Amino acid sequence: MSGADGSRYAETLGNFGLSEEDLAAWQQSGLPDEAFEDWLTDRIARRPSGARARAVYGAEDAHDFARRAILDALTLGPGDHLLEVGSGGGLLLRDALATGARVTGLDHSEDMVALARDRAPGAEVIHSTADALPFADESFTAVAMSVVFFLLDDPVGVLRGCRRVLRPGGLLAVYTTGPELRGTPAAPEPVASRGHFYADERLGELARRAGLGDVEVSNDRGGQLLLARA
Ligand SMILES: C[S@@+](CC[C@H](N)C(=O)[O-])C[C@H]1O[C@@H](n2cnc3c(N)ncnc32)[C@H](O)[C@@H]1O
Repeated sequence: MSGADGSRYAETLGNFGLSEEDLAAWQQSGLPDEAFEDWLTDRIARRPSGARARAVYGAEDAHDFARRAILDALTLGPGDHLLEVGSGGGLLLRDALATGARVTGLDHSEDMVALARDRAPGAEVIHSTADALPFADESFTAVAMSVVFFLLDDPVGVLRGCRRVLRPGGLLAVYTTGPELRGTPAAPEPVASRGHFYADERLGELARRAGLGDVEVSNDRGGQLLLARA
């Protein structure tokens, strides 16, 4: 990489609050230049890692609007067992534990798993992928996803997995970003062009295709909440 390229990368990283540590991680990745935006998408959102990602996703205000909407919808309590897919920094897990529910998180980022274990002592947090949920059928009374769904390449496959691990009648709550927010600060480039955004009706259809019922989609200024039952 030339010095000019290095400073171009540093400038782009700086726009996302990333620093020397992240530039070094990119340089050490050995990936070709054309992979930079994919690498950056992973670093900041799709598989967050590094000090900045830990600070962002461990902060009290990290997607607090989505956390509130999901927990309000799920009305968890003792006797419930929640699975959060893509549990990030673990704040939803922490707040769910406070309801008396049993709580399990899953994430494919090792940094996020470590952070969630720190933020939500008492939760079980598993390093695994949403594409093959490592749980027995009908293990959970509720499943949540907060600002994860738009990153999934096989949304119906993941929703089928969620339905499988839910007990009959169990509730799924997914908070995701609508197409109207693509390219805004809620879903900036280069994440936006690698994400998947669905109109409300289409989002509901995906849930029905996965075999879920009682499907509802609400939309608050582009923040979509999908609710459905197994
Ligand atoms: C944008 S962050 C959101 C984190 C947290 N849910 C929140 O609302 O702050 C997306 C999270 O989903 C995880 N994730 C994305 N795709 C995943 C997959 N296929 N399997 C497991 N985790 C995934 C990422 O590692 C990351 O922690």
